[in-house]
Amino acid sequence: MNAIESVLHEERLFPPPKEFSAQAHIKSLAQYKRMYRESIEQPERFWAKQAENELVWFKRWKRVLQWKEPVARWFDGGQLNVSVNCLDRHLDTPVGNKAAIIWEGEPDSVSKPGEERVLTYKQLHREVCRFANVLKRNGVRRGDRVLIYLPMVPEAAVAMLACARIGAIHSVVFGGFSAHAVADRVCDCGAKVIVTADGGYRRGTIVQLKKNVDEALKMTDERGRRLGRTVEKVIVLRRAYNEIHIEEGRDVWWHRELEYVTADCPPEKMNSEDPLFILYTSGSTGKPKGIFHTTAGYLLGAKMTTKYVFDLRDTDVFWCTADVGWVTGHSYVVYGPLANGATTVMYEGAPNWPEPDRFWRIIEKYDVTVFYTAPTAIRAFMKWGEEWPRKHDLSTLRLLGSVGEPINPEAWMWYYEVIGGKRCPIVDTWWQTETGSIMITPLPGATPTKPGSATLPFFGVAPEVVDDQGRPVSPNVGGKLVIRRPWPSMLRGLWGDMKRYQEVYWKEVPHAYFTGDGCRRDKDGYFWIVGRIDDVLNVAGHRIGTAEVESALVSHSAVAEAAVVGRPDDLKGQALVAFVTLKSGIKPTRDLREELRQHVTKEIGAIARPDEVRFAEALPKTRSGKIMRRLLKSIAAGTEINGDTTTLEDFSVLTRLSQAEED
Ligand code: WT7
Repeated sequence: MNAIESVLHEERLFPPPKEFSAQAHIKSLAQYKRMYRESIEQPERFWAKQAENELVWFKRWKRVLQWKEPVARWFDGGQLNVSVNCLDRHLDTPVGNKAAIIWEGEPDSVSKPGEERVLTYKQLHREVCRFANVLKRNGVRRGDRVLIYLPMVPEAAVAMLACARIGAIHSVVFGGFSAHAVADRVCDCGAKVIVTADGGYRRGTIVQLKKNVDEALKMTDERGRRLGRTVEKVIVLRRAYNEIHIEEGRDVWWHRELEYVTADCPPEKMNSEDPLFILYTSGSTGKPKGIFHTTAGYLLGAKMTTKYVFDLRDTDVFWCTADVGWVTGHSYVVYGPLANGATTVMYEGAPNWPEPDRFWRIIEKYDVTVFYTAPTAIRAFMKWGEEWPRKHDLSTLRLLGSVGEPINPEAWMWYYEVIGGKRCPIVDTWWQTETGSIMITPLPGATPTKPGSATLPFFGVAPEVVDDQGRPVSPNVGGKLVIRRPWPSMLRGLWGDMKRYQEVYWKEVPHAYFTGDGCRRDKDGYFWIVGRIDDVLNVAGHRIGTAEVESALVSHSAVAEAAVVGRPDDLKGQALVAFVTLKSGIKPTRDLREELRQHVTKEIGAIARPDEVRFAEALPKTRSGKIMRRLLKSIAAGTEINGDTTTLEDFSVLTRLSQAEED
């Protein structure tokens, strides 16, 4: 969106519907502002009150916040358990027999619907306790890491909560990642146990999760050591009933293990700052970052944002379409909704399989009231046509959410009119794996929205847009988005690499957390996120590090050098374009181009597969040897090359590059 367009859109203000505000937790902008001011002026008092009201504790904390930049300790001295907060606390209330998880599996075909399962809070509690005992039986102790590599089935939530119950640290890996990605993550976190399945379903085919685990556990590093040598047991869920290999002594079946355990599993008393999970995300170097979150602060952030941003009521059926392999799935499929005693919907398959109305069918079938998805999905639905949502009764919806990338005003309007029937407020929520929970967002009963803006900060969050020197910029001037003070659900570091944590997030701008995003604020103080300004791309709402894709490409024997950039894409936000030079004597062919795309799929996963591979004779570099990405971006986008190119080492590279696309 260009500047003029966005200014025009700023004129469009959508105040919260009156009936909505009347029943909302936060009913007016004035009320939001009062609470926000309190949270900023007296943060410790504010957070202490929230921690007391929202969470159940074994032992009260001694100190609300201890801040030694860049390391925060929240609610030190306190003890609690996340699974108790998500399950046990509800059991003796009317929520005990309420649906905790409504799950639907991917249908085989139009005529054969998917499986359905409903787990009440009591049933989920039982499953979590039993599986926690299975983990213990297989050697998992407090502090051990458990890698979870499962499809979108209730057992994914069960496994996460079971880890939380016994104090093990989970690391969920998205089922679309490759064996290689699994191996890297197992190795980085030193996982003792892997929980996986014999397969999952996606668009009618079976995803070979267990096979990937087998492969991952055979991989070795340069020195010939096995990457998965810390893994003692692999627990396999039977889901797809396909043939898999079972390694005697290492692999055990989930359902078999359950025969040996009871449903009695007392929760571990965890310290506030004990790690809850590690989640890997792409950064600007080749190695994914192991973001880790701790117990009390994370849970408080997830719980409070779910309650206020989605304005949860007892009768809500909440559906966040994210996979549990991403942070959105952690906070808004599992922890946030369950801590609030809500009903959360999980769906295993793709939005357009077998037909493009899967999501609308599910909303109608289960009376979904709050729906949370990504702009990429919304743009795809726009393309597939209004007839698909129009076939279904979506009148139970009362609130819509968006996350993962900037939502263009056109998609916002379509979402508002076609899905929300002009009656549902839209919350465009900005946050990151690192922030743990939503940071910049409208509160639906309070904040007038502007299509394309994430609007205003959540309680206790102090975002700012600054220039290269770290000084705040004037309204409507672009700059770097930073966050000025610690918040409870912030990451506590990068697993095993606190130095990199300091360098990536706390060096760019003095005394502020650097988000990696570009942003501007308008005259009303509304935030407009522009997108990443580091070497991270946002492809279909997924974060992809260009360096990661580059190192996957150069690991192919034909490739000499690779540079990956983003180009604007109507559907996915950004598309991946790889510029590749080949080793001498190797011919650039169409087959090789396809082979390289496949190679990246194998190395990382289909989400990182380049949309385009362009062969070049050389890459444009500065005299000091740095690849000039700005130029490559222009070439990829097909726009004219402008700006300073005088530092370019070899001018002829440019012309050759532009021609290189025609093999
Ligand atoms: C990056 C974080 C936790 C959300 C899921 C992705 C982009 C996220 C928005 C939004 C504009 C957004 C940012 C951010 N992003 N939400 N509402 N508007 N951009 O989590 O993989 O950690 O990616 O997603 O660029 O830095 P993630």
